Amino acid sequence: MKKITVIDFKNKKKQGEKLALLTAYDYTFARILDSVGKLDGILVGDSLGMVIKGESDTLSVSIEEAAYHVKCVKKGAKRSLIIADMPFGSYQVSQDEGIRNAIYLIKSGADAVKVEGGEEIAPFIEKLVSFGIPVMGHVGMTPQYKNAFGGYRLRGRDEPTREKILNDAISLEDAGVFSIVIEMVPESLGKEITERISVPTIGIGAGRYTDGQILVLYDILGLYKDLNIRFVKKYIEGYDIFKQAVEQYVNEVKEGKFPAEENVYD
Ligand code: KIV
Repeated sequence: MKKITVIDFKNKKKQGEKLALLTAYDYTFARILDSVGKLDGILVGDSLGMVIKGESDTLSVSIEEAAYHVKCVKKGAKRSLIIADMPFGSYQVSQDEGIRNAIYLIKSGADAVKVEGGEEIAPFIEKLVSFGIPVMGHVGMTPQYKNAFGGYRLRGRDEPTREKILNDAISLEDAGVFSIVIEMVPESLGKEITERISVPTIGIGAGRYTDGQILVLYDILGLYKDLNIRFVKKYIEGYDIFKQAVEQYVNEVKEGKFPAEENVYD
């Protein structure tokens, strides 16, 4: 099984092949994702703050928590490129601390790191790239800026913001990123960025014309009954399916139907 690299990402853009990525946070799901044999990348996203820790945003995630989940995913994913999100606060204080934390994530098993932000973090990205650490950028609705943005909302509708996001993407490309996530922007902006830069764009709520797509695993599995985000597609109603299995197990235990003869040792 050939391991996907950042070079494959760039080549796939050149060849017009779409890139498919998902998030994962543990060994068991990483194994399932990898076994599909076609997934290009697994992001150990700081969305773990919400879907694993149950917080209302990603801001509480620590570098230790990120590294822990990278280690878990690494055990299960042998093929897909593993990208580790750098949590809020792990690269904002100083460049040295950011470099140390990026190295920690790579030593924990990540093949690359992802950082949110634009022009302002370009010098930091240049440094990481110069040390051989592949970096994925993230522009548009960057969740770590949710307090500044006034919540999770579509960005790039007005001309100045649109221009800023485009310029940010160009700065990140110049700084040496191998790919850029574009989150929650109008489709026309996702398309324009994708056409203007040479590295692959990975969209999440950025329309149909980006070079690839990423979604949060638990969202596509339908684990949140009341989740209603336009850019998310639920491929199964996981909440109902898992709940039904648990209910059946509980009922069978209570009714003495489980364990049955085939579940016991002579
Ligand atoms: O943390 C995350 O999961 C992300 C995404 C791009 C889905 O940043």
